[in-house]
Amino acid sequence: MRKIIIAGNWKLNKTAKETTELINLLKRDLSDISEVDSVVCPTFIALADARDALDESGIGLGAQNIYWEDSGAFTGEISGPMLKDLGVQYVIIGHSERRQFFGETDETVNKRIKAALKSDLLPIVCVGEMLEEREADKTFDVIKAQCQGGLKDLTAEEMGKIIIAYEPVWAIGTGKTATPDQAQEVHRFIRDLLAEMFNGEIAGATRIQYGGSVKSENTKELMGQPDIDGALVGGASLKADSFAAIVKNSCGIEK
Ligand code: 13P
Repeated sequence: MRKIIIAGNWKLNKTAKETTELINLLKRDLSDISEVDSVVCPTFIALADARDALDESGIGLGAQNIYWEDSGAFTGEISGPMLKDLGVQYVIIGHSERRQFFGETDETVNKRIKAALKSDLLPIVCVGEMLEEREADKTFDVIKAQCQGGLKDLTAEEMGKIIIAYEPVWAIGTGKTATPDQAQEVHRFIRDLLAEMFNGEIAGATRIQYGGSVKSENTKELMGQPDIDGALVGGASLKADSFAAIVKNSCGIEK
């Protein structure tokens, strides 16, 4: 059985003070929900306040990136030991915005995943095709290359700690959600690929989130698909009401 995991990617939003305020509202709404994992991923500089505000709420804490070296002359970077020391549990790796705007490649994704695992952090690894790629019928090729490159040389045991997020780039921030069938088709493809790359048991246990214009109104239908095990939520995670509604609408769905 896979437990649904709903994570809020707050991207470049919220000061430390606003982070605390939003977490306090989320705690009110989510503290008695344990059948779904919920996670918030604020900016680096708000992580310490977030950790304090989250306290023993049961809501997880994630970062939005990680550098692969532990320390050294790498101005502006943040390492695994630093995140671990702050009480961070998850880290988003290879988000399409990092691939598009900050030169992230499958190779750097692979390095970051290994660094996260070394620091005992749970990677949320993002994959997804651009609109042109979907229109050119290349979706599966792109996803396959991203999975094979990003997850290269990992053991099955390491794969067991990884969450995959399928985020079609054309659905991010556009209000244009993939249909449940479109998402399910790619999720199934990813699970089959993981079975080939690792083994069937790991593939069956891996949680694969969907991301791209998830809101409370489309949550049930998306989460109801057999291979969709959660959501990575952008815009709708920035308000307590909408994020809490997504978590609540994911309850009672068996995987
Ligand atoms: P939206 O939910 O705003 O489309 O963003 C999705 C996303 O990029 C989450 O990582």
